[in-house]
Amino acid sequence: MDKTPMSESIHSPKTGTRFPVGRSPLLALLALLLASNLAVFGFFYQPQSFAEVPLHSETTLARCRALNAKPAPPPSFNLRTKSDRFQPGTRAVLVKNATIWTGRVDGLEVLKGDIFLNGGLIVGVGVVKQSVLNSHEHDIIDAQGAWVTPGIVDMHSHLAVGSSPELQGSNDGNSFNGLVLPFLRALDSMNTHDDGFSLAVAGGVTTSLILPGSADAMGGQGFVIKLNPTKERSSSALLLEPPFGINGSEVDYNVAPRWRHMKHACGENPAGVYAGTRMDTVWSVRKAYDEARTLKSSQDQYCAKALAGQWAGLGNFPTELALEALVDVLRGKFKVQTHCYEAVDIDAFLRLANEFQFPVASFHHAHESYLVPEVLKRGYGHPPASAIFGSFSRYKREAYRHSEFAARILADNGLKVIMKSDHSAIVSRYLVHEAQQAHYHGLSTNLALASVTSTPAEVLGLDHRIGFVKPGYDADIIVWDSHPLAIGATPSQVFIDGIPQFASPHISKKPASQQRAPKTPNFDKEIKDTIEYEGLPPLEPATQTAGTVLFRNVSSFWNRDESGEVHMTHAPENVLVEDGAIVWSGSDAELTSIDGVTVVDLQGGSIAPALVSAGSALGLQEIQAEDSTADGAVFDPLSMEIPTILGEQTFIRAADGLQFATRDALLAYRNGVASAIVAPAGHGVFQGLSVAFSLGSRNKLEKGAVFQEIVAVHVSVSLGFASSVSTQIATLRRLLLDSPKNEHEFGFQQASKGAIPLVITVNSADVIASLLLLKKEVESHYGKTIQLTFVGGAEAHLLAQEIAAAGVGVILTPPRSFPYSWEHRRILAGPPLTAQSSAALLASHGVTVGLGPQGVFGGPSMSNWAVRNLRFDMAWVALESAGTISKEAALAMVSSNIEKLLGVRSGPHGEFAVTRGGDLFSLDAKVIAMVSSKRGVVDLF
Ligand SMILES: *[C@@H]1O[C@H](CO)[C@@H](O)[C@H](O)[C@H]1NC(C)=O
Ligand SMILES: *[C@@H]1O[C@H](CO)[C@@H](O)[C@H](O)[C@H]1NC(C)=O
Ligand SMILES: *[C@@H]1O[C@H](CO)[C@@H](O)[C@H](O)[C@H]1NC(C)=O
Repeated sequence: MDKTPMSESIHSPKTGTRFPVGRSPLLALLALLLASNLAVFGFFYQPQSFAEVPLHSETTLARCRALNAKPAPPPSFNLRTKSDRFQPGTRAVLVKNATIWTGRVDGLEVLKGDIFLNGGLIVGVGVVKQSVLNSHEHDIIDAQGAWVTPGIVDMHSHLAVGSSPELQGSNDGNSFNGLVLPFLRALDSMNTHDDGFSLAVAGGVTTSLILPGSADAMGGQGFVIKLNPTKERSSSALLLEPPFGINGSEVDYNVAPRWRHMKHACGENPAGVYAGTRMDTVWSVRKAYDEARTLKSSQDQYCAKALAGQWAGLGNFPTELALEALVDVLRGKFKVQTHCYEAVDIDAFLRLANEFQFPVASFHHAHESYLVPEVLKRGYGHPPASAIFGSFSRYKREAYRHSEFAARILADNGLKVIMKSDHSAIVSRYLVHEAQQAHYHGLSTNLALASVTSTPAEVLGLDHRIGFVKPGYDADIIVWDSHPLAIGATPSQVFIDGIPQFASPHISKKPASQQRAPKTPNFDKEIKDTIEYEGLPPLEPATQTAGTVLFRNVSSFWNRDESGEVHMTHAPENVLVEDGAIVWSGSDAELTSIDGVTVVDLQGGSIAPALVSAGSALGLQEIQAEDSTADGAVFDPLSMEIPTILGEQTFIRAADGLQFATRDALLAYRNGVASAIVAPAGHGVFQGLSVAFSLGSRNKLEKGAVFQEIVAVHVSVSLGFASSVSTQIATLRRLLLDSPKNEHEFGFQQASKGAIPLVITVNSADVIASLLLLKKEVESHYGKTIQLTFVGGAEAHLLAQEIAAAGVGVILTPPRSFPYSWEHRRILAGPPLTAQSSAALLASHGVTVGLGPQGVFGGPSMSNWAVRNLRFDMAWVALESAGTISKEAALAMVSSNIEKLLGVRSGPHGEFAVTRGGDLFSLDAKVIAMVSSKRGVVDLF
């Protein structure tokens, strides 16, 4: 017998009222009696109940029965033969001969075989039956053994709500209308004309959770979307398993609900925006949940009566549009996605979640979650996952204790790890690079791949359809040009709902070494120290010696000739260093027994010119958002008044504001970057004079710490400044052409005459064209050649030939462009969207190319953390160039070319980075020493 007395309804012809009855004979009889209005059974129903059964009773009872229903796919979901997102006309596809990482068996299953896609679904994996193939006309793609994975799932993206290029008219991700806005819906802000969509797909991202920003304690509701263009072209059509109808918030109470996503934020952001404290933020959330709890309990009481048929005086179902979402959180219908960085915040939020008894799906950013695994394990229901970055950190206090080993440490504690983009903080297109970094720093292959596929699918409550290569799942798969955890891995095709996303992808052939997962180095000591020192392990070298060091078993050796050019030399067995200078290389094994020689076995590692960074603010700040840790910005004479005591004539020198041994500098040093050239930070056009300094030095007074006090004159020309571009260029023209009246003008005169390089940060091709004309004008006036270098260069590829002809160099910063703003919008996207990357195209025209750090939109101050990844950036450029950029050429782009373009004087015996286990380009290798002739030392880590 059915235990729920009211599971269906009949219609009363007399009253027109619908009311429910049970299936039992007794209730059926009752229903009949009621329907014919014959009698009442006072012992069963109170007489007044009949009179007051309200018009809405049927819906209300359905609603009451569904009150605590948990989200789930529809019962018939596993039987589907066509996707709800199937687009008519999509042809079936057989992907043949793939190496398939399925995501199953804890991410350990790898199959060799075929995948058949039909109806927007994966139909067969491994050996596909001939009968299945015969039944559908299909296209065939020969993967030739390539790796295939599920589509990338980005669990934290602001795609579409903060669309690119960023314009005031489309910055829709954060509301500043209050601290508690759980009723806002990211869907209402989703701009389908975001250049980020196709770029994310080019990186293999197929599904994203689009979240409101973190300006509020509760920023609103997030929505999961797929990234393929839809026929309808609407935001609604992007939704994957929308929780309610598109016309409002109506739901079908007769089926299980779909997961909803609530964005919460702790810590600096909400507190900062509303000038409150963490205490205020937490109280605002507790207060809101208390109200929601009261409403929930009145609903529960109402439904208890309604379900018992006690309609008397019951009125309408109690609800409130502004609070319904929070009530649904309390009913377990939401995945709570909380932006939280620090231990203090994680602890506070979980205390709150335990007080109100709801699980937290995931802490996002979670820079300190690895430090408090036991706190995470206290999470209500289950421990929250941590959705984190690979290396993006130290941009504010909350991120100061970030560790690149966090993913590994969390996994060691049995906690779920997700790598996420926070697009466009990290450009979503490069999300798999976050997984590569986590893997490099110790996360296992299976968990690293899962961290951007099956784990986020599971945490989003969507692992019944995405995140795995499995029959019956959505046909979202990526065919890769290399192992997805190898550096520079790029999709050669991406399917979403079975639809190939690139009509004619540009595929660069990757070497065999890229077709397997990297054999990553051992970081056990670093991991132990990270935990012991609560995220701030000492970063100084373990040993520094001016003595003799013999590096054994060297398999690759790149040296620099007299002019500073990088060359692969013979691969000697041994390299001998004295006083920080390479004095001998060869294969004489006798040397190993000389007394007092420190012998270091490289196990087939490499010695290569150390990297040089330009375009960051290394050494000028420790924490970007903390003014008290930074040199600060120079006055901009075009937009503000210069204090008279400073005098207009003064040229600001970055050398005067340098700080040594900042964490970003030391981490860059530990990853092979020996020196940085930094210019003072500016508010606008004028920065000042850059300095070249050693990242491994402890202070300015040490030998070789500052090795060129004045390097170049730095300015920026941008559409985003307070003054017009034409004003900016007119000012430059005057400074370059007028006879100097003070030190500042004298500096520009020197640049006009080619005595000091002029470095201009510029991205727009139109501005670049104006600057090339200005260069010509000044040169014809003085008859001298200006040493001009552009930094930025997002649109430089459009004028590659002209830039080459003018003898101007370009330091691409970031090295992989993104259309952040209007002046960045015409990027050359690189494979698979275009044949060449910007770097390759510029180099092919003869432009001297340098690579700056990837960073985050916001200029040099937002890229210090990324300098450590320059070796990955150079490897990436070489790998995606289809052989047109050799390793030497790529190394030059982050060493000798930068020095040449900025006029840094460096001879052949400069600095070297020493790796063990592979060369500097490889994720198999670890930098274990830096050799510095300037400083006369070898640093051993
Ligand atoms: C699969 O591709 C690999 C690499 O191209 C090739 O060696 C192998 O023979 C192919 N196998 C089949 C069954 O086609
Ligand atoms: C939304 O409203 C329109 C117009 O009334 C209607 O045609 C459509 O079916 C509604 N859609 C849903 C999902 O309820
Ligand atoms: C050099 O290192 C490689 C890689 O570890 C190893 O296979 C090889 O045996 C080593 N050679 C010598 C001479 O130690």
